[in-house]
Amino acid sequence: MRETIDFNRGWCFHHGDSLPREASTPGAEFTAWQKAGAHALSNPGNPAPDSWRKLDVPHDFVIEGAVIHTVLTDQPNHISHGYLPRGKAWYVKKFEVPESDRNRRLQLEFDGVFRDCTIHVNGHFIGRHLSGYTSFGFDITDVCRFGELNAVSVQVDATESELWSYEGGGIYRSTRLVKTSCTHIPRWGVHIVTGGEHVPGKIAAQIDVENSGDAPVAATVACHILDDAGAVCVEMQPQTLSIDPVARTTASIHALIKTPRLWSTDTPVCYRLVTEVSVNGAVTDRYVQPFGFRFFRFDPQTGFHLNGRPLKIKGVCCHQDHAGVGVAVPRALQEWRVKQLQELGANAIRTSHNPPDPALLDACDRMGMLVMDEMRMPGSSGEMQAQLADTIRRDRNHPSVILWSLGNEEMGIQNTTTGLAIFSRLQGLAHALDPTRPVTYAMNCDWPGIIEFHDAHRFRFDVVGANYRGATNSSDCYDSFHARHPDWPLIGSETWGGCATRGLYEPDRSTIPVEISKEFRDRPECWLDDDARYFASAYGGTVTPWGCTLEETWRDCASRPFLAGTFIWTGFDYRGEQFPYEWPSVISRFGILDYCGFYKEVAHYLRAWWRRDTTHIFLMPHWNWEGREGEAIRVRCYANCAEVELFLNGTSLGRSAMPENSRLEWRVPYVPGCLEAIGFDAGGKRICSSARKTAKAPAGLRLWTDRKCMTADGADVLVVNAAVIDATGEICPLADNEVEFEVSGTGVILGLGNGDPMSHESEKFTNRRRAYHGLCQVLIQSCGTQGTLSINATSRQLESGSLSVTAAAP
Ligand code: GAL
Repeated sequence: MRETIDFNRGWCFHHGDSLPREASTPGAEFTAWQKAGAHALSNPGNPAPDSWRKLDVPHDFVIEGAVIHTVLTDQPNHISHGYLPRGKAWYVKKFEVPESDRNRRLQLEFDGVFRDCTIHVNGHFIGRHLSGYTSFGFDITDVCRFGELNAVSVQVDATESELWSYEGGGIYRSTRLVKTSCTHIPRWGVHIVTGGEHVPGKIAAQIDVENSGDAPVAATVACHILDDAGAVCVEMQPQTLSIDPVARTTASIHALIKTPRLWSTDTPVCYRLVTEVSVNGAVTDRYVQPFGFRFFRFDPQTGFHLNGRPLKIKGVCCHQDHAGVGVAVPRALQEWRVKQLQELGANAIRTSHNPPDPALLDACDRMGMLVMDEMRMPGSSGEMQAQLADTIRRDRNHPSVILWSLGNEEMGIQNTTTGLAIFSRLQGLAHALDPTRPVTYAMNCDWPGIIEFHDAHRFRFDVVGANYRGATNSSDCYDSFHARHPDWPLIGSETWGGCATRGLYEPDRSTIPVEISKEFRDRPECWLDDDARYFASAYGGTVTPWGCTLEETWRDCASRPFLAGTFIWTGFDYRGEQFPYEWPSVISRFGILDYCGFYKEVAHYLRAWWRRDTTHIFLMPHWNWEGREGEAIRVRCYANCAEVELFLNGTSLGRSAMPENSRLEWRVPYVPGCLEAIGFDAGGKRICSSARKTAKAPAGLRLWTDRKCMTADGADVLVVNAAVIDATGEICPLADNEVEFEVSGTGVILGLGNGDPMSHESEKFTNRRRAYHGLCQVLIQSCGTQGTLSINATSRQLESGSLSVTAAAP
């Protein structure tokens, strides 16, 4: 029967290209490429790796380094990767394979390795994988030593980059060893298609069965479906397949559930298809494939519809790194990030610009988040087609995935006949592998012209992906597109393009001068905000030449039913691509949330207008302007109520109507105390309020987290936030105290962050972090033992803060 072994534990790690002398077999006659089995490092008898650093994956070795200002000539993208040097590394893992496995097939699977990795097992070359973003696996059965120690080595070369922002390096997603019988379902071997609008409960499943043995077999394939409570809701008629030795055959299974519970963003109900393969009455494999029933369409007139109802796509583009871990985002943190975006009101993620960690898609399925699943780069070579095909095979059962994107802003080919040849081939391949989902591609802001080129060549994407507002940067582009192509569905595949820094209202004189990137030096007039020369303020006025304000972005979309939705650039800040700034900036400022997932002020705009179901009000800036008494301060309120009245120390400064999808602003002469915005509904009833009080000196620390319990499995992660507070509990908005965290009980610190785009503090191997505008974050990973986990935070002269959670059995 199938057995899946978590392969994330117990790797030996060596950073760098040149290996310690003892790593190569002394006196070896042949090298790895000369004779089979001659690769020294993956020889289980090689003692060298035992002395290397021990670690578990997911692991990102690049995030462990220190930023280097000097331009690294061998790494041309050094600046755009956040000044962190990339490089090469080795991972070796030794593992026992019991004698009882002798008649099984063993597959080693990797969800993602950045990048260009070469894999050997027991001295034998197993495979090479170039892409840093696609998942892969290899059958290692023939070279396994049964009843003995085995070793796998993974050589990683992360010196090349695939993106223009931070990408990390190493085995940064999960790995596993899958053991099956000879007659088994191969990786990604189940494809489920559910019915459309008229018969949503119809199921057509294609199930591949592989016979790795040396004699033909007659395999019986029997399936049943479990509902979300685990009850069997339908059993299908078994089928028998004749499979030749070392061959695959596909079973086609059909079923109908009369009234399935539909998967949606509000009710993310997942079912499971359980397939049992048997030979001569003995079960040889049992494969469980989650899926969901839902139907959708992109209508060129009325936008996106899910399960027959219109649903505006309120999306965000996301890169895959987070403070404290780089790209090695553990499963629990993937879930936490989706939760933050949902709380903001987002219902979709674009995995820009690469196939995501499957753990993210699992979270999106479970939590009801739609996904635009993007390929790294289009191409029609065998390698590039395989990247698309593998991603579709891997991801096509996820109910959350609604679009395949063939890539992003391929300026070199998107309006050439070469480009169209590639896109046609890839779109055809996607349709063949998945007839249920449309294909898109995110064109850069020249998209109105590119579309005309496509039209002239009789080519079109199923859904047109438009990044930004077009070269003229006016919302007219959407209307003229729609007028010219009334039957082409359209989505804002990338929008906004503004920068903001949490809690930063004025340039920080201590860090000026900042280096300005070339794009900005060349066209300073294109950036909306004069302040952009020095800093990206929390008001969000710093906008790229191709972007527009957040308010314009959302209004463009909200006011046009034919526009299926918008994907804001970006959900979270990400490392690298820090322009318009360079050193000392190392992190982008494009996020609605900062690098830790703390709300930037502008996030409250979306929170107010994306979630009309709940009242929301937020007042900015902080009210600590010591020495600036009487000076007019720019005050802004984001809210979704009918009217807002502003009070300073109890005196009304007037009441104003809140315009739809907008915000209010005042200039208020500074007097310390309490600035408060009170929101009223259309009937004049007070329904919400937001106050900013002048905080006193830092006096203590407050910790909070979103869970009371974690799993004691050595993998679960708790996100703990810390705030520097005054004696009354108010967050000190300018505090940058260094906080020291101690974990007692069954957990360890995985990493730290504070959201400061200019911080050069280490996120690893430390338990200290400065607060940035009052806040910082620590990620705690559970150990394998159950019990209480306590986190204590201290800082000089401040009262400590603490919290405890329970680590319970998995
Ligand atoms: C877009 C691009 C993104 C990012 C963004 C920054 O044009 O697609 O990857 O670079 O600009 O504004």
